[in-house]
Amino acid sequence: MYKIVKKQELTTNIYLMEVEANRVAKTCEPGQFVIVRMDSESERIPLTICDYNREKGTVTIVFQTVGAGTKLMAQLSEGEYFHDFVGPLGKPAQLEGLEKALIVCGGTGVANAYPVTKKLFGSGCVTDAVLGFKTRDRVMLDKHYAAITRHVTVMTEDGSFSRKGRVTDGLAEILEREAYDRVFVMGPLTMMRDVCLITKQLGVATTAGMSTIMLDGTGICGGCRLTVDGKTKFACVD
Ligand code: FES
Repeated sequence: MYKIVKKQELTTNIYLMEVEANRVAKTCEPGQFVIVRMDSESERIPLTICDYNREKGTVTIVFQTVGAGTKLMAQLSEGEYFHDFVGPLGKPAQLEGLEKALIVCGGTGVANAYPVTKKLFGSGCVTDAVLGFKTRDRVMLDKHYAAITRHVTVMTEDGSFSRKGRVTDGLAEILEREAYDRVFVMGPLTMMRDVCLITKQLGVATTAGMSTIMLDGTGICGGCRLTVDGKTKFACVD
């Protein structure tokens, strides 16, 4: 059993939970995920590891209530338990050798990109970030990013907080004046596509986090199949 030691509603329908999972916390790396179950009968939910504390033995997950399973999960309280907390699964993000990186993210991708950003910045890589949200009330973790980046730009589509525009507007503006070894993008599929269209045109190497298309996270359902360099891959396994 895995105890929820902290629960916080980051913004409407997006929850953060810090969970006691010592073995996962000791070995996980940015880019990996866990599969959680509330009880032995409930659905398996794959979630990106959003932070970890090796000393405390805790792992942080962030999820949006989009289906029945996540809506039930949101009803769990601090002090209650997950029945299963399996991981770390998937391959760690490849971060070695980068000297300057730009993180572009939106929605729950802001939470998912957090450990990658933290590790890059902590390893001495010059790291900037662009966070995109629809409106002021959706903004989250911006202060956390300010602490682990050289510079963070926050965009809101209606201009109700910080800069007005889409995350791609912020990206295009930054790439006009700065060069990066690599862009990391995490968020909704359409947003990641639009980011990749810009970086491809400019020839900037880009890594997209594909956890958004995972279903059961087992490598069996085929829901996360995609093509990379002409080869069939699975987001959860590869
Ligand atoms: Fe089912 Fe990857 S999520 S195969």
